[in-house]
Amino acid sequence: MSGIVWITGASSGIGRAAALEFARRGYRVAATARRADELATLVDEASGQLGDVTAFPGDITDAEGIASVVAAIEEDLGTIDTALLNAGGFQPMTVETFSAEAIRATMDLNVVGSARCLEPLLPRMMARKAGRIFMVASVAGYRGLPRSAAYGASKAAMINMAEAFHTELRPHGIHFGLVNPGFVKTPATDRNDFPMPFLMPVDAAAKRLVDGVLGRSFEVSFPFVFTTIMKLVRCLPYGLYFPLVRRVTRSRSS
Ligand SMILES: NC(=O)c1ccc[n+]([C@@H]2O[C@H](COP(=O)([O-])OP(=O)(O)OC[C@H]3O[C@@H](n4cnc5c(N)ncnc54)[C@H](OP(=O)(O)O)[C@@H]3O)[C@@H](O)[C@H]2O)c1
Repeated sequence: MSGIVWITGASSGIGRAAALEFARRGYRVAATARRADELATLVDEASGQLGDVTAFPGDITDAEGIASVVAAIEEDLGTIDTALLNAGGFQPMTVETFSAEAIRATMDLNVVGSARCLEPLLPRMMARKAGRIFMVASVAGYRGLPRSAAYGASKAAMINMAEAFHTELRPHGIHFGLVNPGFVKTPATDRNDFPMPFLMPVDAAAKRLVDGVLGRSFEVSFPFVFTTIMKLVRCLPYGLYFPLVRRVTRSRSS
């Protein structure tokens, strides 16, 4: 198998499971996250697979650090063929806890953090006229949802960015795609205090994600039933959308 798969947010949850799934399928994976100890455990767990995982710790809020990570991966392992920009986070924010700083921090992590990964990566892939990049957004980016103003807005921005890049990068030989998960059981969702419909086990999500990334469609979404419902809800006019959201969130809180 030629080319390296770079995964950010590989120390936990979806990114970690995707790294193991790529390694199982024979790919060489470069794994990035801040927690070097968790990455070392991942490297050990992947040993014995057809492919392997190498740790390249880094913080996506540090532009210079991430540029060094990309350079180190290409120097040590080889050219990055596939990038899965998955690192991100969710902080619930209500109108009572609203602050501009919460919005800024979420945008800085999810939107600008992904852009910091793209900055050193795009020129390299454009020079080679080859590569594939998938950003992990969320169905929460489809429409505005209560308690999700910061996170949802950041994921909506990522969806919009991916749509723009998809068309623009095609003539450069680069496939730019999007992963939009519904609820997947990870340390992040373990903290949620609300019911999560169609919650998907992380290993099943990773299999679906890797199939999608290798299949080269634009959008990879899962689980099927929940994301299909969310795609339909996305098309509703406001006159139907807001009463539906009120009904669902009222029945959740009662
Ligand atoms: N789980 C879901 O239901 C769900 C649904 C839709 C979308 N998503 C998206 O899927 C992605 C993964 O979520 P998850 O549920 O797997 O969460 P998770 O288990 O909390 O994993 C998040 C990953 O991001 C990394 N990360 C966070 N901040 C970082 C930073 N500044 N620099 C580098 N890495 C950083 C974390 O590693 P370190 O802490 O070691 O840095 C960790 O590896 C996120 O973008 C999330 O928004 C998840």
